[in-house]
Amino acid sequence: MLLLLLLLLAVIIPGGDSEDAVQGPTSYHVIQISTYANSTWAQNQGSGWLGDLQIHGWDSDSGTAIFLKPWSKGNFSNEEVTEVVDLLRVYLIGFTREVQDKAKEFQLEYPFVIQGTAGCELHPGKAISSFLRGALGGLDFVSLKNNLCVPAPEGGSKAQQFCALIIQYQGILDIIETLLSETCPRYLLGVLDAGKAELQRQVKPEAWLSSGPTPGPGRLLLVCHVSGFYPKPVWVMWMRGEQEQPSTQRGDILPHADGTWYFRVTLDVVAGEVSGLSCRVKHSSLGDQDIILYWGHPTSITLIVLAIIVPFLILLICLALWYWRRWSYQSVL
Ligand SMILES: *[C@@H]1O[C@H](CO)[C@@H](O)[C@H](O)[C@H]1NC(C)=O
Ligand SMILES: *[C@@H]1O[C@H](CO)[C@@H](O)[C@H](O)[C@H]1NC(C)=O
Repeated sequence: MLLLLLLLLAVIIPGGDSEDAVQGPTSYHVIQISTYANSTWAQNQGSGWLGDLQIHGWDSDSGTAIFLKPWSKGNFSNEEVTEVVDLLRVYLIGFTREVQDKAKEFQLEYPFVIQGTAGCELHPGKAISSFLRGALGGLDFVSLKNNLCVPAPEGGSKAQQFCALIIQYQGILDIIETLLSETCPRYLLGVLDAGKAELQRQVKPEAWLSSGPTPGPGRLLLVCHVSGFYPKPVWVMWMRGEQEQPSTQRGDILPHADGTWYFRVTLDVVAGEVSGLSCRVKHSSLGDQDIILYWGHPTSITLIVLAIIVPFLILLICLALWYWRRWSYQSVL
């Protein structure tokens, strides 16, 4: 009986795993960046993100949202979208005015920047948590936990003063609470479904090798480029045989305009020790068919030679055919 139970568990557990392994973003958040140049000039920038993919912009002149994907509205009706956008417009106008009014009281010196982010995240097991954080001058200022304003240590007495003030605006806190704990999770589930085809797509990387600026006499910088892949997680390593080279240097994973990613890793080696080195790429789109590129492998040279020779051969054949036809035409005459 116990054995049966264990067998059953063994069948059930991998199933659970593969469900959790669904690729793509699991969170939605908005970002607000408010810049105050002086007592009369302020600017708000807003955007909405699914993980690291931007799906909303904000036109601050007209105070309207920009939907960057055909599915950016998720499963919300136009009425509900309008309602939320109206709320955001009123909020941003009010926020700017309040900050300008209270700048003196809070001893804020122009110019300064306020950053805010708020959203919700889906966890394995389908629980959804929400968050809201504010920063002043690039430092954590306050956060919201269980609908309570929590001053950040970096925020000092100003942050404590701010939280003491915001408690008096219970109406605003209630609206924020509803947006975070009710609207955001409902929107997140809807938009993840609406954008499924794009969010869960798999795009294979292309990879190539080059040499970088020489790091010193008798040394080479080998560069392995990996480009055009989606989703973002990727593993790239310089190898000697099956041995990972720990001195592999990773760059940042950089975005392409089409939503795919670019990544490069480099290896600084003694010029005489390059043979047997390869760059290995693992990515979900490749399954277990890793890309392996060997340094100095003839493939690249063969390709170049082919690229030159093939058109040349075709030209030769065309010329030969032309001559042959001319010749046979003349010989008929
Ligand atoms: C406020 O800042 C803006 C933008 O930098 C500038 O154009 C404007 O002249 C400033 N106004 C005052 C009163 O300093
Ligand atoms: C959108 O989808 C979510 C999750 O499936 C659901 O809870 C919600 O009722 C749907 N409709 C709207 C208008 O939010």
